[in-house]
Amino acid sequence: MNTTKKAIIILLSSLCGTGGLAAQKHITVSTQNTCLALKVTDKKQLEQVYFGNRLKNDIELQTAALPAAAAYSTFGAGHTFEAALRAVQTDGNTSTDLRYVSHRTEAQGSNIIQTTISLKDAYYELNVDLCYKAYQKEDVIEQWVEIKNNQAKSITLHNFASSDLSFKAAEYYVTQFHGNWAEEMKMSEQLLDEGIKIIDSKLGVRSNQFTHPCFLLSLGQPAREDNGEVVGGTLAWPGSFQFCFEVDPLRNLRVLSGINPYASTYTLEKGKTFKTPALLYTYSNSGTGTVSRRFHRWARQYGVKNGSGERSILLNNWEATYFDFDEAKLVQIIDDAAKMGFELFLLDDGWFGNKYPRDSDKAGLGDWQTNTKKLPHGIPFLIEEAHKRGLKFGIWVEPEMVNPKSELYEKHPDWIITQPHRELSLMRNQLLLDLSNPKVQEFVFNVIDNILAENPGIDYVKWDCNRYITTSGSQYLKPEQQSHLWIDNANAILGVMEKVSAKYPNVCFMACSGGGGRMDYGSMKHFDEFWISDNNDPLQRIFTQWGGQYFFPAIGMASHVSASPNHISGRSAPLKYRFDIAMAAKLGMDMQPVQMTEEEKEFSRQGIATYKQIRPTILHGDLYRLLSPYEHNRTAYMYVSENKQEAVVFNFLVRKDINGDRQTVLLKGLDPDKEYMLLEINREAGKGKKSRISEYEGKKFSGDYLMTVGLRFTMSNEYESVVIRVGQSGTIRME
Ligand code: GLA
Repeated sequence: MNTTKKAIIILLSSLCGTGGLAAQKHITVSTQNTCLALKVTDKKQLEQVYFGNRLKNDIELQTAALPAAAAYSTFGAGHTFEAALRAVQTDGNTSTDLRYVSHRTEAQGSNIIQTTISLKDAYYELNVDLCYKAYQKEDVIEQWVEIKNNQAKSITLHNFASSDLSFKAAEYYVTQFHGNWAEEMKMSEQLLDEGIKIIDSKLGVRSNQFTHPCFLLSLGQPAREDNGEVVGGTLAWPGSFQFCFEVDPLRNLRVLSGINPYASTYTLEKGKTFKTPALLYTYSNSGTGTVSRRFHRWARQYGVKNGSGERSILLNNWEATYFDFDEAKLVQIIDDAAKMGFELFLLDDGWFGNKYPRDSDKAGLGDWQTNTKKLPHGIPFLIEEAHKRGLKFGIWVEPEMVNPKSELYEKHPDWIITQPHRELSLMRNQLLLDLSNPKVQEFVFNVIDNILAENPGIDYVKWDCNRYITTSGSQYLKPEQQSHLWIDNANAILGVMEKVSAKYPNVCFMACSGGGGRMDYGSMKHFDEFWISDNNDPLQRIFTQWGGQYFFPAIGMASHVSASPNHISGRSAPLKYRFDIAMAAKLGMDMQPVQMTEEEKEFSRQGIATYKQIRPTILHGDLYRLLSPYEHNRTAYMYVSENKQEAVVFNFLVRKDINGDRQTVLLKGLDPDKEYMLLEINREAGKGKKSRISEYEGKKFSGDYLMTVGLRFTMSNEYESVVIRVGQSGTIRME
C-alpha cells in the first residue's frame, strides 16, 4: 500500500473513532452528515448504539449511556424476536452466537470508506462479516453480510438478512411503494403498532410487480418533505425481498432487510460463502426531500450505469405498431422520427422467429433470429436507415423467457422453471428459463452477445422480463436444492447482466419488466435506464413517477408520450399534458407518426427542441418536490442544476377545479442571493394563448423571493399543465 493511501486510512479511522484505545470497543460508520455507531460489549457482542446525524465530536457517543440492540441478531443465544440470521449447525444445533473478532476500515478512493466487522460463532466455525460502504458526500450507506461456513460439513441457512437496524422513537411510520402492472409505485403510509409488519415480494423474478424493494421510515411523526427524521432504504436485489419491521413491547423498532427467507432454505456447503445483497440506506433529519436527493446523487454516481452521461430522446414502435410491422412501415417511422428531432429509434417486440413467427405474444419467444418475412433485409438494413438519418438504433429482447410454441422449447423443454407432475403455468403465454442452470446462463448471455456482435450498429437494448415465478421448481437443481432456486436464479441473472454490461459499456441498456417490475439497484448498475410502467396515461404517470422518484433518479426514468385515447386507460388528454409529464423525466414517445396531425408533429418537434435545452437540468439536477398529488389538486416539483443557475418547475392539475386552484407554489433549492428570470416553456401555440405566468416574465426575482413569497397563478382546467424555466438573466430568452 502506498503511504498516501495508508495515511488516509489511519486519518479516517481516527476521525471515525476507530483508532487507538477505542478501537476495541467502538466502531463508527460515518458519512459527511450521518453516523452509525456500534459497540463491542465486554462479552464481545456487537451492538448498535446510534444511527443519526453525525456529531461534531463522535467520541461522545462512546461515553454516553445509549440504549443498545444487537447489530446483527441471531436465532437462539437469548434472542427472542425475529432474527437476522438463523442457521442450523452441522450437529443440528439451531442456535448461533456471534462474537466480535476484528474490524478494518479502508478508504476506496476519496469518497468511499469500507468498514468490515468480522464476527464468529462462540463455538462453531461459522464466520460472519458485516460489510459497510459509507459514501461520504452522498450520505448513503451500503450494507451487506458475508456468511462463511468453515465447518467440516454443510450447514443450513433459514434467515439471512442484509441488515438489522434498530430505532427508538415515540412513533414509527412506514411508507411502502406498491401497485400492480400499469399502476406501479403507489405510496401508502401507516403507523406501526406492536408486532410485525412485513413488506415483501414472493415473485422471484420481476419481483417488483406488486411491491417495490424500498421503504421510508419516519420517526416520531408521519413523513414530511422538508423536516423530520426519516430513514430511506432500498434493497439492491432483483429477486424476492423482505423488510420486516418489528416493534417490541418496550416500543423499540427493529428493521430486518434482505432476501425473502420464504421457502428459500439454503444449504451452505463447507468452505462456501453466502453473500447477501446490499441494503442502501440514508438517515435525514430534514425530511424525505433530502432522502431522495441523496439517493439520486448516489445513483448518478454509483447506482445507474453511465449515470453522469447523456440520454437519447427515443421513439419506440411498440404502441405505434405492436407486432404488425414490416420494413416499409418501420422506415416511415424512422423517417418521421428524424424529422421531429428524435435521437434514437427503438424496435420493439415482434422482429424475430421464423418457424414460429413472433406475430403475437403466443409464439416465437426464445427464437432470436430475424423474421425474414417482416424484415427481409435484416436488422443491419434498419440500423443503416436510422443511422443515415442521424438516429441511433435500439432493439428489444426478452432473453430469459420462452413460448412453448418455439424452437427453443422444442429443443430444451428441460430448461424451464416448472414443478414435476404439475400443469405448465403460463403467464402472457410464456415460461421462465431456469437460470440456476449454467447452460441457460450461457444461452441468455449469448442471446444478447450474438445480437450485438452480429449488428455492431446497435446503440440501445431494451431488456424485458414479462412474468414472474409461479411454480418454483428447477429441472437442474437436485431435489434437496429446490429451495435454492429463488436465490440462485436472482444471482444468476445479476451475473449475466454484469457480464453483458462489462462487455458492452457503450451500449445503452434499458431495464423493462412489463413496466416497473425490475427497478432495483442490484439490476440498475448494469442499466442506463428503466421503464417504470407500461401505462403512459399522463394522469397515472403523475403518481407513478412521483412514487418512483423517491428512490430512483430522472436520468434513468424513461417516460413516453403515447396516443390519445390512451391504449391502456382509454383516457383522452391533450398532447401538451402528455408531453409535459414525459418531459419531467427522460422523454420518449410511443406513437405512430402517420396517425399524428401536422400540428401534433409540429408541437412534438418544438417540445423535443425545448427538452434538449432543459435536459441537463432534469437529468442531472436535484429534485425538489413542491406539492404532492396525494395532498393537493395541483402537483408540482422542480429540478435545480447543481450550480443553482438553472431550474425547471413542473405543475400539473390533477382534477378540474371550476373556481381555479389559487395555489401558491413556493420554489425550493435556489440560491436566495441569485437573481432569476422566469419563462413558461412548452406552451401551446395559438392566437391569444398568452403565457400563464406573464406577470412574472421579463422581470428579475431573487431566489429568496421565489422561495419565500413564491409563484401565484391559477390552474383550473382538466389536464392542465404549466412548465416554467427558471434561469439567471442572460440564460433565459423569450421563445
Ligand atoms: C412489455 C413491455 C412493453 C413492450 C412489450 C412487448 O409489456 O413493458 O413496453 O416492450 O413487453 O411485448
